[in-house]
Amino acid sequence: MTKIRAAITGIHAYTPDYVLTNKELEKMVDTNDEWIVTRTGIRERRILKDPEKAASDMGAEAVKGLLEKTGTSPDEIEIVICATVTPDMMFPDTANLIAFKSGIKNAFTFDLGAACSGFLFALTTGAKFIEAGSHKKVLVVGADKMSSIVDYTDRATCILFGDAAGAVLLEPAKDDGNGILDAVLYSDGVGAVNLYQRAGGSLKPASHETVDAKEHFIYQNGRPVFKAAVSGMAGVVKEVMARNHLTAADVAWVVPHQANLRIIESVASMADFPLEKVMVNIHKYGNTTAATIPLCLWEWENQLRKGDNIILTAFGGGYTWGAILVKWGIG
Ligand code: ACO
Repeated sequence: MTKIRAAITGIHAYTPDYVLTNKELEKMVDTNDEWIVTRTGIRERRILKDPEKAASDMGAEAVKGLLEKTGTSPDEIEIVICATVTPDMMFPDTANLIAFKSGIKNAFTFDLGAACSGFLFALTTGAKFIEAGSHKKVLVVGADKMSSIVDYTDRATCILFGDAAGAVLLEPAKDDGNGILDAVLYSDGVGAVNLYQRAGGSLKPASHETVDAKEHFIYQNGRPVFKAAVSGMAGVVKEVMARNHLTAADVAWVVPHQANLRIIESVASMADFPLEKVMVNIHKYGNTTAATIPLCLWEWENQLRKGDNIILTAFGGGYTWGAILVKWGIG
């Protein structure tokens, strides 16, 4: 029996309208446009300003657009997986709310963490249901309202993050050879001390003290995370290429998580990729955590060709990291 492969058969994304520029951040914290651009590559990011809206609203916008674009009825969707570190609430899951807001009634839904690697972990998980032959239409969403956990008095983190959501539809691949071909994923709890949101979970439930100590915001020790991100992503990109007997010349695009332009450039150089083959939109959106990779695929959609080898790679809190090899099936 031939192996069933999962293919990405549609992509869509949502970015909020409000643009938070470096100039505006200069008025909020002791920073400047030049520092932010040279150290991170970020010029602006999108912020979901409406206090009544959350990650699920952005996710639902991405999903509704995706269903329309692919001519898929909400009734056909069997599973919705949402990668997020900024769920609307501790429970119910954001995937559940996204499905509800998108009119999806016949699916089971669940969230997945894994921070900035969340989309890759969710994509791999979703692909397994297709490969098993048990499901035919799976939605994988990455949605993060990072502005809800960013301390806008902390210049070390507030310059980095933005809000967005992206979604892909997974279906059984039609043509032999296309689809999600391989995934290399890792986690290592050694990184937990360098990147976290301390309070609000079962370790430190919300209290006056946790609020006063600003423990509901992101904490990041940037330098060790930077080093681990470079070696982690470069390592998995090389690993997935070696496993599949590919050289850089065989790969059309690398789609890296957008955390820092210097990280992306270092990974590209260590894996021998010219920057022209690397998707970069961090200057417009900053780090949108689980949304960066679908946001890139969405923006580059018209440049992707059937049969292109594409490597998705990410690194995030945990630590978590990975690379996925996709042979593009649309076009
Ligand atoms: N504006 C001006 N100066 C600043 C700012 C700012 N916004 N932020 C920090 N500085 C200062 C620091 O105080 C420090 O000053 P000092 O030398 O006088 O002490 C100096 O700039 C250098 O600070 P570093 O933190 O060492 O700067 P670095 O070059 O490491 O850049 C950054 C910081 C951008 C955070 C970088 O370390 C980074 O990108 N780290 C990795 C991020 C990442 O990949 N995260 C994983 C994904 S996120 C997730 O999973 C949710």
